[in-house]
Amino acid sequence: MKELKIESIFQVYNDVSELSNVVAQLFDKAIEARTKAYAPYSKFKVGAAILLDNGEIITGNNQENVSYPSGLCAERTAIYYAGAKYPDSKILTMAITAASDNHKTKNPIPPCGACRQAIAEYEVKQNTAIEIYFMGEVGNIMKSHSLANLLPLLFDKTSL
Ligand code: THU
Repeated sequence: MKELKIESIFQVYNDVSELSNVVAQLFDKAIEARTKAYAPYSKFKVGAAILLDNGEIITGNNQENVSYPSGLCAERTAIYYAGAKYPDSKILTMAITAASDNHKTKNPIPPCGACRQAIAEYEVKQNTAIEIYFMGEVGNIMKSHSLANLLPLLFDKTSL
């Protein structure tokens, strides 16, 4: 038996003013998308904005359903639309923000496991890292330099 240690490293920014203009603009779009989320059941609104290598920015938000599992997270709404509209473009960066109607989210809210798996598909497909920034409504912002950094031992096509 031996142990395998896998490290993940994240950058933590105090607020949006510490980000580059490009990423700050991406967060503006993610916040705008968040306010349009359809989340009547959880009251938890999430917005995601994706920057592509062709300069386009694609946004998405969570879309809930009375049959709860039929809803979809913001990150997947955005990334599937990006894949549908610009199948040949690479995804450079994703910015995510989450806010609750019930309390102010102050800590960075990371993408759920299912969204990590969905984003992994595109990172493996394009063979370049997707930077992921995430925050709550206010407060710190965390950055992962890649999806793989967020999902150690990811299941990809090499496993098939
Ligand atoms: N949600 C997202 O949009 N992204 C995540 O990564 C986590 C959760 C949504 C799903 C649901 O509409 C609400 O947040 C509460 O789970």
